[in-house]
Amino acid sequence: MTENLSIPRHVGFIMDGNGRWAKQKNKPRNFGHKKGAENVEKVVSACFKLGVEYISLYAFSTENWARPEQEVNAIMDLLQKFLVKYKKTLLTNEIRLIVSGDRTRLNDALIEKILDVEKETSHFSKVLNIAINYGAKQEILSAVNAILKDGLESVTETQFEDYLYTKDIPPIDLVVRTSGEQRISNFFLWQSAYAEFYFTDVLWPDFNEQEVEKAIKSYSLRNRRFGKL
Ligand code: IPE
Ligand code: IPE
Ligand code: MG
Repeated sequence: MTENLSIPRHVGFIMDGNGRWAKQKNKPRNFGHKKGAENVEKVVSACFKLGVEYISLYAFSTENWARPEQEVNAIMDLLQKFLVKYKKTLLTNEIRLIVSGDRTRLNDALIEKILDVEKETSHFSKVLNIAINYGAKQEILSAVNAILKDGLESVTETQFEDYLYTKDIPPIDLVVRTSGEQRISNFFLWQSAYAEFYFTDVLWPDFNEQEVEKAIKSYSLRNRRFGKL
């Protein structure tokens, strides 16, 4: 069924709709986040199985700190538990973990876990990039400030990319956003400059292997011109 598909090398997921999913079931929002976290493994493995090489997941934005403290804490806790549990899978399936975002605001235990898993998986070539306390504007600004600090007067695109969290990985080919919202919400603006977009009403906890295939089929039908004829 998937033989003739053109497979995006790098797929980004804006994993949205956990709260509404829980609400539909008369459950607290954090129950939706738990289900959302549990859904990651399935989607990631379906993508790699289809031949995707790089996956970026939006887990927590720089704007999400504005949510109630108990929700923020629950998400941070889930992220740490996810890394503890998922480390084995990453090692077995030879997947490198990268975490994009400003870590200084994360708790020590989470930072430690991120460093541990990044280090242990750093030699693998398939990549899972998780955006935590990530905002594209913050990323671009901190790149500019680091460039100034390095005393550079001007940089090329390639040099600029060396200052981004994604410095070793190719641009995003396909951005998938669940839950019906059609916006980018500060997700990898530079890296998505020429991405295709796929929006679905499916809420993140319900986004499964079939939905991955649908998104990739849709991508396959796109005519990427990159400004040419
Ligand atoms: C996405 O689900 C997860 C995060 C932003 C952390 P939401 O929590 O945004 O779910 P909705 O949009 O309120 O349904
Ligand atoms: C984007 O979802 C951030 C993540 C998925 C982590 P939000 O739910 O925070 O985005 P908005 O508020 O709808 O733009
Ligand atoms: Mg949302």
